[in-house]
Amino acid sequence: MGISFGSNNMALGIDIGTSAVKIVQLKKNPSGMPELVNYGYRPLPPEAMADGSVSDPAAVAEVIKELKKERGFKSASIYASISGQNVIMRFTKLPVMDPAELEQTVKIEAEQYVPYSIDEVSITHAVLKTVEEEEEGGGKYKILLVVAQKELVTSYTEVIKSAIGKCEVVDVDTIAAINALENSFMMTAESQEGGEVVAIIDSGARTTNISVLKSGILEFTRNIPIAGNNITESLKDTLKQEFDQAESIKIQEGSIGDGGGSEISEVIQGTVDELASEIRRSFDYFKAQSREPMIHKIILSGGSANLNGFSTYLMNELGVDVQVGNPLEGIAVNVPDADDLYNNLQQFTVAIGLALRGVTEA
Ligand SMILES: Nc1ncnc2c1ncn2[C@@H]1O[C@H](COP(=O)(O)OP(=O)(O)OP(=O)(O)O)[C@@H](O)[C@H]1O
Ligand SMILES: [Mg+2]
Repeated sequence: MGISFGSNNMALGIDIGTSAVKIVQLKKNPSGMPELVNYGYRPLPPEAMADGSVSDPAAVAEVIKELKKERGFKSASIYASISGQNVIMRFTKLPVMDPAELEQTVKIEAEQYVPYSIDEVSITHAVLKTVEEEEEGGGKYKILLVVAQKELVTSYTEVIKSAIGKCEVVDVDTIAAINALENSFMMTAESQEGGEVVAIIDSGARTTNISVLKSGILEFTRNIPIAGNNITESLKDTLKQEFDQAESIKIQEGSIGDGGGSEISEVIQGTVDELASEIRRSFDYFKAQSREPMIHKIILSGGSANLNGFSTYLMNELGVDVQVGNPLEGIAVNVPDADDLYNNLQQFTVAIGLALRGVTEA
């Protein structure tokens, strides 16, 4: 919230995921409400992105250029993200201090978490909240430290620059997903002040990002290297098919928890079970370390949220209410061909969260 003099009117959120590039264009309409005015989706060739970094810059640039040509995105401030997989995120507390001093202190604090030379990394932070701590005297900031290798950040910005324009901000996909979904769960008193604990699970092609928030404040985040591609790869091996065929079988016939007993269901079950135990392990760790007795709600996003039966299965396995996220809460949609957007909505979550920063921040 807050006033915003001269903030941008148009923002482009570009999410380069493992499976596809997703772009969303938002505009701030005269009433101040964000309005989605354009969007685009295009799959990437299989090896273009590897382990959350750009491995074939020319191929990625080509896909973005084609999307730009096809959809005619207007010039705008560009917001992109790197994958949470390659980012170090740590929580810390620091005494309340002025912003310049904080900037310096954060760098020194972050050094202990960095396994590489400090010159090779970009360090940034977000103040999550200010807490009063009587025993230790004075207020403290609860801070999220974010560290990424400069080379990794540059690999994204260069490719975007060569294809569409200069990148204004580089965010992390995990944080962008939270940004997109916040409006849909911060509507009740429970969620705002009442201590409601919400887990956002963004499950894509290569990774599943988990974030846990209490009263809307991020408390825990972790990245699990199990997602949609693992299901497709096991189907490919079991059914002796090409990747693309296995992918269509998964999307058209795949489901979980239907008690089907077919070969396809069994293969899917194996991977989803593995993922569910990793999520459970993360929840247990979070609960032990934060002394929170329970997680009240899971919000699912990412392409793999579309797997038939996935939310019900997670709900039964984890004993937590599961909802599929709505990244368009509070956003007006003004495009002539919204069908593909609604049909693929989960995959646009990160791109929407990125562009939202551009039209809501001062
Ligand atoms: N209807 C569906 N059923 C099952 N899986 C689906 C469905 N639709 C999409 N997916 C899966 O979603 C995944 C792509 O989702 P998404 O676009 O969120 O990932 P990404 O951003 O490319 O990957 P990552 O974030 O892991 O780098 C693919 O594995 C795809 O098979
Ligand atoms: Mg993704």
